[in-house]
Amino acid sequence: MPLLAIETSCDDTCAAVLDGSRILSNVISSQADHERYGGVVPEVASRHHLELAVPVVEAALADAGVGFDDLDSVAVTAGPGLIGALLVGLSTAKAIAAPRRLPLVPTDHLHGHVAANFLDPDPLEPPFLCLIASGGHTMLAGVRDHHGFEVLGETLDDAAGEAIDKAARLLGLGFPGGPELERLAADGDPQAFTFPVAMSRDPGLDFSFSGLKTALVYISRELGEEETARRAADLAAGYQAAVVDQLVTKLRRALEAGEWPAVALGGGVAANGPLRRAVAGLCEQKGIPFKEVNRELCTDNAAMIGSAARFSQPLAYPDYLSFDAFSTGPRGNR
Ligand code: KG4
Ligand code: ZN
Repeated sequence: MPLLAIETSCDDTCAAVLDGSRILSNVISSQADHERYGGVVPEVASRHHLELAVPVVEAALADAGVGFDDLDSVAVTAGPGLIGALLVGLSTAKAIAAPRRLPLVPTDHLHGHVAANFLDPDPLEPPFLCLIASGGHTMLAGVRDHHGFEVLGETLDDAAGEAIDKAARLLGLGFPGGPELERLAADGDPQAFTFPVAMSRDPGLDFSFSGLKTALVYISRELGEEETARRAADLAAGYQAAVVDQLVTKLRRALEAGEWPAVALGGGVAANGPLRRAVAGLCEQKGIPFKEVNRELCTDNAAMIGSAARFSQPLAYPDYLSFDAFSTGPRGNR
């Protein structure tokens, strides 16, 4: 029986229909409006979700060839994320589930990024080590079963995607910056400028990206506006390499500290080509299989939420009517 999943934790309005680990449909509507602000404006995001939630759900059902009355349960991201944005998704899910007395499955967004790896084809079985790097989070997750994960290390300040988006903005690129920075960096020399690879001497598994951003601000100030624009590709390449370096250094350290039979990725930054190649190289060196989840399943989507929901606690009608979203996750393990 099909499950409908809804994800609205940030600026993408997403709905998907799943049959077990099989994706029947996966619709993502990205909000272009944030580009002119250079970042996501929470209130603007909520308003767009309000307009898009119903058409996106209808499109997901139509793509799957499924009607509302065929649904078995409704899953929704409960947090962490932007509270107003989350509430639109949660209210939509309740409004679909309650009249049909369907169970509702509140789902953790980060569990979703991990659970993208449980989807067809080739679902990955735990245990495995998962590097999650997105616009809001950067962490190493030790995944021992389908139901949750242990946080082995996380960022102490900015997330990797946030650092990338800020650099992209400084270099005059659009939002979100990741894909554009990657394109620009492809024409640059990563060695042309020296960027600090933070935390590389720190023995733990935590990350830090705020110093990198500051380094770029100083370099570009020294170069001046014209020269920064002329050397943008080299700057992008060096900056991206420093982000990838830190992520891979910590991943290597986590692999050396534990017995992990496989490696997986999650989050928007995991769509990055140089990161994927570096992780693939590391895994090859260590003789560990690397699960390369599709790029569309790395960035925010509802299929990953449906996947996590299969291993989360459903709430029966009417218990979920008073259930609330949460903006910041309980720090630590899920
Ligand atoms: O997982 P996601 O879609 O949303 C959050 O949960 O934050 O991640 C979005 C982040 C943005 O910062 C975006 O710039 C970054 O992922 N991103 C990338 C790439 N595609 C998206 N970063 C680097 N390279 C990419 N190709
Ligand atoms: Zn995300």
